[in-house]
Amino acid sequence: MAANAIELQPYVSLNDDDCEQRIIKAKKALGDRVVILGHHYQRDEVFKHADFSGDSLKLSREATKSKAEYIVFCGVHFMAEVADIISRPDQVAILPDLSAGCAMADMADLEQVDRAWKELSSVLDADEIITPVTYINSAADLKSFCGRHGGIVCTSTNAQSILDWSFSRREKVLFFPDQHLGRNTGFKMGIPLEDMVVWDYDLPMGGLSADQIRDAKIILWKGFCSVHQMFKPEQIENFRREVPGGKVISHPEASFEVCQQSDYVGSTEYIIKTIEAAEPGSRWLVGTELNLVNRLHQTLQKDNKTVQFMSNMVCMCSTMFRIDPPHLAWVLENLVEGNIVNRVSVDRDVANNARIALQRMLDI
Ligand code: 13P
Ligand code: SF4
Repeated sequence: MAANAIELQPYVSLNDDDCEQRIIKAKKALGDRVVILGHHYQRDEVFKHADFSGDSLKLSREATKSKAEYIVFCGVHFMAEVADIISRPDQVAILPDLSAGCAMADMADLEQVDRAWKELSSVLDADEIITPVTYINSAADLKSFCGRHGGIVCTSTNAQSILDWSFSRREKVLFFPDQHLGRNTGFKMGIPLEDMVVWDYDLPMGGLSADQIRDAKIILWKGFCSVHQMFKPEQIENFRREVPGGKVISHPEASFEVCQQSDYVGSTEYIIKTIEAAEPGSRWLVGTELNLVNRLHQTLQKDNKTVQFMSNMVCMCSTMFRIDPPHLAWVLENLVEGNIVNRVSVDRDVANNARIALQRMLDI
């Protein structure tokens, strides 16, 4: 933190209205020097201040297009890292609360992936035969690993085209950290379940035999999202019983069984567009994060649509929720005073290789 930076503490006790007014004022003072990017899972009090909202892919593209000096990312840590990697060197990426991580991204680290690569290389020539594909929900050093090993990054929007690209170059894919996105996408492309094995990073050789590795088309990392794993096929069955004609839509981070029973599967942006384009009066069950579902329900009530959350438990992305109005006001007012707080800055060598893997994705 800069020596003269304003402390966070006084912001914590601000009332909601004061906080909102201070955000508006600071944003106005900064003008086009700042751009605020807001992921769809952000709470409304933060989301309303975003200049651009979107899913991970759309926001990465906004970060490359932006001319602003400061990119304030209301999302989670890996998103701000991506903004830092693909923006110009003179731009600064800021995450209002540095503890806003992604539980799924934390399920794979470089040491584990390096070990997996070595172990796979003891069975086959990994750099010739396997394309490493990392979901964008991963740390920058894993994107860098993919850049160094002929691999690529994917998001929930483009996973299928990225797998097509990967298979056109090499025979197999190591997909991390989300097993569900990998499995759901592979199956949609016609790869049978038995050709996709799970790599358990806590076990030697991922818990697999050499034959299992040789026979697999996709090796799926044993990671998952704790929010999307709460959705269950029974919740869909209940909805279908109670709401005949209702439609079900899920994010591909949900389990295979949930996605199989859904009418539509896609990224947060896809979910929004599909429901927005649906007939007035239609009724929807949605398997993704609660803030997005509630916002959709509120905005589409005017068309008499009902948008219902899949689980009866509260499944919010608790890390995304850490970005709150006090943190946003704090980073913006510091910028007005010339202080940069909560900068996310990726090591140069890591960023250079990660950019290769990200650019391969953005070019597709
Ligand atoms: P989207 O790219 O679909 O927004 O997904 C990001 C995410 O973290 C979902 O859990
Ligand atoms: Fe990560 Fe899940 Fe939150 Fe998405 S919803 S950011 S995958 S923890």
